[in-house]
Order: sequence, then C-alpha cells, then structure tokens
Amino acid sequence: MKPTGRPPEKAYIRSYGCQMNVYDSERMADLLASEGYEIIDAPGDADLVILNTCHIREKAAEKVYSELGRLRINKERARAEGRNPLIAVAGCVAQAEGEEMIRRAPAVDLVFGPQVYHRLPRLLARARAGEKVIETEFPTEEKFDALPNDRRSVTSTRAATAFLTIQEGCDKFCTFCVVPYTRGAEFSRSPEEILDEAHRLVAAGVSEITLLGQNVNAFHGVDGAGRGHDLPDLLKALAGIDGLARLRYTTSHPRDMTQKLVAAHRDIEILMPYLHLPIQSGADRILDAMNRKHTAAEYLAIMADIRAARPDIAISSDFIVGFPGETDAEFEATLRVVETVGYAQAYSFKYSPRPGTPAADSNEQVPEPVKAERLARLQALLEGQQFAFNRATETAILPVLLDRAGRKDGQLAGRTPYLQAIQVEAPVALLGTIQQVRVTKAGPHSLFGSLADNTVPVKFEARTVQLEGVTS
Ligand code: 5AD
Ligand code: SF4
Repeated sequence: MKPTGRPPEKAYIRSYGCQMNVYDSERMADLLASEGYEIIDAPGDADLVILNTCHIREKAAEKVYSELGRLRINKERARAEGRNPLIAVAGCVAQAEGEEMIRRAPAVDLVFGPQVYHRLPRLLARARAGEKVIETEFPTEEKFDALPNDRRSVTSTRAATAFLTIQEGCDKFCTFCVVPYTRGAEFSRSPEEILDEAHRLVAAGVSEITLLGQNVNAFHGVDGAGRGHDLPDLLKALAGIDGLARLRYTTSHPRDMTQKLVAAHRDIEILMPYLHLPIQSGADRILDAMNRKHTAAEYLAIMADIRAARPDIAISSDFIVGFPGETDAEFEATLRVVETVGYAQAYSFKYSPRPGTPAADSNEQVPEPVKAERLARLQALLEGQQFAFNRATETAILPVLLDRAGRKDGQLAGRTPYLQAIQVEAPVALLGTIQQVRVTKAGPHSLFGSLADNTVPVKFEARTVQLEGVTS
C-alpha cells in the first residue's frame, strides 16, 4: 500500500454476472488496494463506487440504471457532508452503453469497458480532476499484448487456484448474444506468454489453473516462430509444468470440440474430468435460428466421444428456454437431450431480448408465463440430475483441493475433480493442499466429507448416449 499521510480512500465494487466479471472485480480491488484504497463491502461510506456490469441477463442495463439512481441520492448526501464520491460503471453494460450512460445518469463519472482495467488509477485521476471519462474502445491483439500481467491472470498470494485468460472475444454471433458486440472479435494470446505466466503462478503456489475465454476451445495462439497452437497443444504443454496438479478450461462451443481435444481428456492426466459445453436448445430448428451451426445429434455425438475418452466425465451446459418461435415440441426436444446426457450441473435461462441482437427483433417472442413454466420444468429435471450425480459420489474417496475456509470452524472447503463443492472436516494447516477425502454425504448442490488415507477410485457407470431417434 502506498503511504498517503491521510486516511485511506474507500472503494466499493459491486460485481454482476459471469465468472470473468467476478475475477475482473477482484483484479480491480487488488489494483485499488495497491493504490492505497481500503475495499469496503457497502456503498454508503465509499469514496469510489464501481459497478462491474454484465449484459447477458434480462434487463441488465435497466437494473444498472436503477442502481445508479440509488447511488445518485447517496452521492448528493455525501456532497452535503463535504465529500465527493466518484461513481464508475465498468464491464459489458458500460461497453455497450458508452456515452449514453452519462447522458442518462449524469451522476456517473467514469464509464469503462473490460479492456482498460489496468489503466484504472490514471482514469480515476482524470475523473478526480473533474473530467467525465469514457473509455470503451474495442480490444485488439496489440492492446492485449500491452496489458500488464495482472489483467491476464487472477490469483492472490495465498491462492491454490488461479484463472488464466488465454482468449477473449467471440466471432460466432449467436443471434441471442451480446458478447461479440461488447467483448469484440476473438483473439488468442501467444502460447509462450501463457506458459510463462503459468510457470509464475505455479512458482507462487498455485496448483490448479483454469484457462478462461469466452470461446476458450477456439484458442489458436501463434508462437514466436509463427506456428499456430490449439487448445489441446496448450493443455499438453501446461501439463508438463512441475507442481501443477490440475487443469480446467471454460467456456466452450460444440463447434470447436475437436477429436484432438476429446483425446486430450483421455491422455492428459491432470486435465480434470469436467466439461462445460453449452447446447442452449435440443431442437435443430431453434439451434439453426440461434446460429449455433450444429445439430442436437452432433452435440450428442460429442458426448458419446468424450464419455468414451473419459467415462467418469462430469458434463455441464447452458440452456435457453423460450427462444423466439420455440414450440412446445421443441422445448420437449431440449428435455430429451437433458435426459439423454445426464448433466452433473447446468445453468438455464429464460430467453431475454438483448437490444442490437438479431433475435431481439423477432416477432415470435414467447410469452413470459410460457417461458417461466418451461424454465421451471427444465430446472427441476437438471436439479434432479445434479443431485443424482452428487449421490453417485457418496462414499467414494476423491482428491479434493482445499482452497478456502469452510462454512464452520474446523472445516475447509474445496472442489472435487468433478468441480463439486465440498465441505471437509480438516485442520487449517491443510489449506491449499490436495487431500484424499471420503464423501460422507451428498446434498443437491454440495458434498460433505472427511479426510481419508487410502484411495478407492470413484465408480461411475459410463452412461450410454442414445443416438437413436435423433437425426442430424
Ligand atoms: N437470453 C438468455 N440467456 C442468454 N445467454 C446469453 N444471452 C442470453 C439471452 N439473450 C446465456 C447463454 C450463454 C450464457 C452465458 O448466458 O446460455 O451460454
Ligand atoms: Fe455468445 Fe458464446 Fe455464442 Fe459467442 S459462442 S455469441 S459468446 S453464446
């Protein structure tokens, strides 16, 4: 922390939305802490409030504007007391709204997109000098190269797990999604840089790295010699790092799920048996309207291949119900895919029109009550599958990375290879280590366990993916 000679300024950061945003917020908090800010957990006394926004969910921009309304009242109160708190909006809503944000909410002092977080101290200095700051340029490869390391990976000195961004942006233009507009074109970092950074993380005590990207399996980094490398190449190279015990990656598109990547799940021991592969819908006509460029049968064929390569793999997905024009029969097709695959975990959403995306203009919008009913049915099925998956690991002994304090004294929390959250009776001294844990109880969303000293591999029945009746 820089000595300032006066009480530290206080910053409050509120994070909305995806994993990338949560970690971006942590980076901003680290950066602000190193600039002398105290990070607080309510906006009331803050000298700086940052809303790190997400554009994916329903009415995202409207929610941000109503939060800004509350913050404006806060700011007026603070001004009456002689303080002048800054209000900043970061993330995808900021990127999408730009100047419009300051027009609609004049109390806002700064608007900046996901690519400029590393310049935050300079942006704040400009705002403190009275400027309304708007920084929402699109990223380019050169700019990504210019980013300091702290914008690329997220870890803290104590952390056993880290997220490493290897790819950003997306060129797929699914017709419901804002990401190609807010995060820009797809680009990949160079493999050398990624490896360097991974080495540094491992040297700092990290034993699990999750590779991040909006379209991570489209990764195509070019090395110094001009040779291209895909995600399986990168995973193989990373697996060679001494001391690295676990690798994960997220989030993927079925179109980029190559046989080589499937084989990596069989061949790379430290690649964890977990795959988040969104299908969105089980109906081919809807998949086509979504511009997903794959069929349900192609997705199920990938499932069959990946389960042949790694029979115990835990599968996760994203689903959208009530996409414009979705009929009852098409929704039923989604349920059939879910029944066929058997998910360990999943995220499901009602379709919500995002301004500027093609599907938002469709005149076949599905009525809200129909969407709500479909979502409830889908979620009941998915919840049941998650619980069943969790129960299948009951009594098994699994290696658990104990990466944080548990809910109660005497407990640590961690993750199984299948990314299940687990509370373990274990002493604090084991924080940051991988231990063999016997699963004593399975809940719908998490597990409980105690330390074990012998290993009994978990027994999963490899599910046979039924391809009959599904035509491509
Ligand atoms: N409506 C509902 N869900 C959406 N997602 C993205 N855009 C929308 C939208 N307009 C979901 C998709 C995606 C996940 C990150 O968010 O399922 O995979
Ligand atoms: Fe959005 Fe993912 Fe489709 Fe890209 S692939 S447009 S990020 S849903």
